[in-house]
Amino acid sequence: MGVLIQNGTIVTALDTFVGDIYCDEGVIEAIDVGLLARADDRIIDASGQYVFPGGLDPHVHMELPFMGTVSADDFETGTAAGVAGGTTSIIDFVIPARDEDLMDALAVWHERASKSVADYAFHMAVTWWGDRTAEWMERCVREEGIPSFKTFMAYRGAIGVDDVELIEVMKQAKQLGALVTVHAEHGDMVVELQNKMIAEGRTAPKYHALSRPPAVEGEATSRAIMFSGMTEQPIYVVHVTCREAVEAINRARHAGLTVYGETCTQYLLLDDSVYDRPDFEGAAYVMSPPIRPLGHQEVLWNALRAGTLQVVATDHCPFNQAKQKEMGRDDFRSIPNGAAGIEHRLSLLYTYGVRTGRLSLNEFVDLTSTRAAKIFGLYPRKGAIVVGADADLVVFDPNASGTISAETHRHRCDRSIFEGFPVQGLPSHVVVAGRVQFEDGDLKVERGAGRFLRRQLS
Ligand code: URP
Ligand code: ZN
Ligand code: ZN
Repeated sequence: MGVLIQNGTIVTALDTFVGDIYCDEGVIEAIDVGLLARADDRIIDASGQYVFPGGLDPHVHMELPFMGTVSADDFETGTAAGVAGGTTSIIDFVIPARDEDLMDALAVWHERASKSVADYAFHMAVTWWGDRTAEWMERCVREEGIPSFKTFMAYRGAIGVDDVELIEVMKQAKQLGALVTVHAEHGDMVVELQNKMIAEGRTAPKYHALSRPPAVEGEATSRAIMFSGMTEQPIYVVHVTCREAVEAINRARHAGLTVYGETCTQYLLLDDSVYDRPDFEGAAYVMSPPIRPLGHQEVLWNALRAGTLQVVATDHCPFNQAKQKEMGRDDFRSIPNGAAGIEHRLSLLYTYGVRTGRLSLNEFVDLTSTRAAKIFGLYPRKGAIVVGADADLVVFDPNASGTISAETHRHRCDRSIFEGFPVQGLPSHVVVAGRVQFEDGDLKVERGAGRFLRRQLS
């Protein structure tokens, strides 16, 4: 049985046109006007709606063991929430413990991810440098289909690396033609500021944000960029939140360096007043880097428009308030860092980006799908509406509206950081690998149907 999407306004990163798309055997078979259905085909009338390539979120953490607990969505529930919101593929991070064999960690992640309902790929985090790390990185690229590596400049004493280790990763990535992604915060300064806060008796969630000011991120972003320039190794800076980091990336790009930047919906739409919420509710917003004071959000929107930042991801890493965030009630350093977001990325960016005139429809598609597919070696299988691409498509109703709430969301989490946010523009149908898996609010996903995506950078 094929799927024919008729009369939709098809939007790619480059073009907007009205037409039909025919999908069969999991791929796009034809794009034209007046396509005819076969007897047993499924027909979706997309008149008055947009058809986007399925969203690709290149920054998520499903069932991640982190800070003494595990992120609350597993690969099944997390990818299902993504599908409901129009995200049809993800890139998760394999994160070995310090001193753990990277290949052993990869096997664990493959096992966990095998229950995904949608396609997935991995970045490999290099959390330490030892005698065999270079060899493991080579195996990732040449044998495992993982040509991108993650480094954390924060989280010292856990998964964070020091400068010497970061430089080694960049040098080896250069040899392999791989990409290095960077969580940029000055780890030692964070520890210093955290200790100062705690010594002064400041233990509430808001001090998480105050111990990680924009300068901490700006410095680390600049340092990573300097290493990138000196090793001639391209980098991708994840979850950029502030003016200082945007300016560093902008300078680097103008100097001719290959430096990409990603931001996330929460950094565009929230400000640090969230940390003042009573009854420990500020803990729901504890993530790293933190939500920034008013002013930084506009810088991020402008950076998306200007092309300084190229991707909007979510850093989906949910923790429940009950039992998880609660671990840090007396000490913000013990609040697990992260929040849920994968389900609402497209509707939020459409509502607050496209509908406000900040982004064009084509920019929206580029930011949520196409550019990440290109940067991370999945294009045109993902991120494109072309014959032969995977049939991952979102039929998006610009007139549908709703209000985000933890009561109704599909994240396995008891809080939504976007609680009460109105959205206008929602998926009506989501096609994943040629199957209609979301239809008018009804999610029909299949545990284990997702495939591991081997990637190669050109
Ligand atoms: O707070 C965050 N961002 N949690 C997930 C891990 C990371 O740093 O991306
Ligand atoms: Zn991070
Ligand atoms: Zn992350």
